[in-house]
Amino acid sequence: KKPIIVAIDGPAASGKSTTARILADKLGYIYIDTGAMYRSVTLKALREGLLDDLRKDESGISRLLRTITIGFQGDRVILDGEDVTEAIRENQVSREVSFISSLKLVRDKLRELQQQMGRKRGIVMDGRDIGTVIFPDAELKIFLVADPAERAKRRHVELSLKAGGAAVPSLEELEAEIKQRDRDDEERTHAPLKRHPDAVLLDTSNMSIDEQVNVVHDLVMKIVGQS
Ligand code: C5P
Repeated sequence: KKPIIVAIDGPAASGKSTTARILADKLGYIYIDTGAMYRSVTLKALREGLLDDLRKDESGISRLLRTITIGFQGDRVILDGEDVTEAIRENQVSREVSFISSLKLVRDKLRELQQQMGRKRGIVMDGRDIGTVIFPDAELKIFLVADPAERAKRRHVELSLKAGGAAVPSLEELEAEIKQRDRDDEERTHAPLKRHPDAVLLDTSNMSIDEQVNVVHDLVMKIVGQS
């Protein structure tokens, strides 16, 4: 069967990465989490203390982009040779990532990397602009949405599990953060979050992970069955 590209976009915490990861596993495809790539650039900019200067002049990011390497080893994210899988999930990164990903130079660089990663097909890629900008010719495009309160609940469970008893932000705080990030991603000039007209809209508010994966898997099977 001819391998395809599955592009999964949607707002923060809508279930994209969980769905994409399991789906890729079932299909024997490669999973690429593009959010992790934007988070890696953000982590590097934070570590180099560039954020304040970048807000005044974004060209300051070009030196960083010239030398950065971002890759995946299984489900680990590797930035300049260092495993940053946990570090890129920290709150400070989540707060600044929408700003960094609004910068044109950053998007140009990551678009090039992502298009190269997908060249061979047989991939599931998730993000905000995969169906619209990175692979508008993807054979299957999905737009995952879920109610903000439900998304905050899922994020809360995820963070609480990881925190091992340590304090985590309240549901209200998480919902406010999620909504703010969606607004920032939708309103930016370059590659804003929006549904490609061909993308299948899937509301996961009342769906289990298994159900989400099965719906998308069935859609893939319909396409590859025809090829
Ligand atoms: O997917 P995740 O929530 O980890 O993405 C973090 C942020 O990275 C998003 O809020 C968005 O600002 C940015 N992003 C993007 N384009 C993508 C993937 C992520 O702008 N394709």
